[in-house]
Amino acid sequence: MSKQHLHLGQTLTFSGDPFHDGLDTARHSRDGALVVEDGMIAAVGEAEDLRTGDYASVTDHGASLLLPGFVDAHAHYPQTAMIASWGKRLIDWLNTYTFPEEMRFGDPAYAAEIAGRYLDLLLANGTTTVCSYCTIHPSSVDALFEAARARGMRVLGGKTCMDRNAPEGLRDTAQRAYDDSKALLTRWHGQDRLSYVITPRFSPTSSPAQLQALGTLWAEHPDCLMQTHLSEQVDEIAWVKSLFPEARDYLDTYEQAGLLGANGLYGHAIHLEPREAHRLQEVGAALIHCPTSNTFIGSGLFDMDGLTRDNQRIGLATDTGGGSSFSMMRSMAAAYEIAQLRGRALHPAELIWLATEGSARALRLDHRIGTLAPGTEADFIALDLASTPAIAQRNARAGDIWESLFPTIMMGDDRAIAATYVAGQRVV
Ligand code: GUN
Ligand code: ZN
Repeated sequence: MSKQHLHLGQTLTFSGDPFHDGLDTARHSRDGALVVEDGMIAAVGEAEDLRTGDYASVTDHGASLLLPGFVDAHAHYPQTAMIASWGKRLIDWLNTYTFPEEMRFGDPAYAAEIAGRYLDLLLANGTTTVCSYCTIHPSSVDALFEAARARGMRVLGGKTCMDRNAPEGLRDTAQRAYDDSKALLTRWHGQDRLSYVITPRFSPTSSPAQLQALGTLWAEHPDCLMQTHLSEQVDEIAWVKSLFPEARDYLDTYEQAGLLGANGLYGHAIHLEPREAHRLQEVGAALIHCPTSNTFIGSGLFDMDGLTRDNQRIGLATDTGGGSSFSMMRSMAAAYEIAQLRGRALHPAELIWLATEGSARALRLDHRIGTLAPGTEADFIALDLASTPAIAQRNARAGDIWESLFPTIMMGDDRAIAATYVAGQRVV
């Protein structure tokens, strides 16, 4: 009895990075097929070549486009219930909306409720992997990983460490940050599909001693990722300068503490000094572009064109809830609009690649997720390219796959996600 499952639909695959290797790395098949076995992708190709096999099931997705599940490389799941909070920029926004909400995660029942709600919203939006911040509370990490495990999802996350410039109840110490992070890393890292990420929130809320302690932990576990924020708003950068008068620049506050490395994820990276950009590229760190957040909290415009030309590794993310959406489609649309404002039109192939393989590469997981390559995990979606009347009438005019796909990138939402599969199982 066959254990293989056949999925028919349009497919889009990449043989390289379209930013560096060109747009012909993208390969579209109008009558494509995907074979799934034991939660893994066994084959991808043309329907006519694959349909003759012996299959336990055949699912015809019609004209929907089969793509890897989206990979959201930076988000804050605890900000789910306060997304779209009005009228503030970064520091005020943190103090007014974010910190009071994060305080509620001291209650493990509340953390569990939000973690489950958040992951269900992601799956409905076609996102199968996220790298999320949690809160200061170790139980907020347990809540995220337990919810991910219950859904079979590949999820990354870590305890958000802060020991200053945050309210009582959201502060730990250098030692507590080290001890809690180490205990969580030992409990969760590599369990099922879960990865622990060492997570100092950002330099303004960590003392030099706390940054050092987490740098020490990272040196002890160099295979772990480390995530933080870098140069998001001009006021924030000025604050970092006053808190670290001896630092050469914002990145240096991390570098001096052992928090700069190839497995580092630096969220935002909008206002980089030339030295910072050069060092990030030199060590092979990943910059995470959070386009809806660039505009929503008024931070500035990420330089996608300049940074890709300089060979930076770049992932794409929602930054929920500083970003204004749970959807990576909305993130692609905002990335397009921001690049347009800076004079570069990102191609739909580049946008889709960023939201899948590009983010997977940023998370050092492209050998497992983010592609339809045989031997990788069968996290994939079926994208309806005519999900609303407005999109359908535009799609009807399309001359090729890119004209057909772009209206859904720009105008699509969760209604375009016809199906989401996690490790081969349909969950939406
Ligand atoms: N910088 C430090 N913390 C945060 C956060 O929660 N969201 C965003 N967008 N930026 C931050
Ligand atoms: Zn963030």
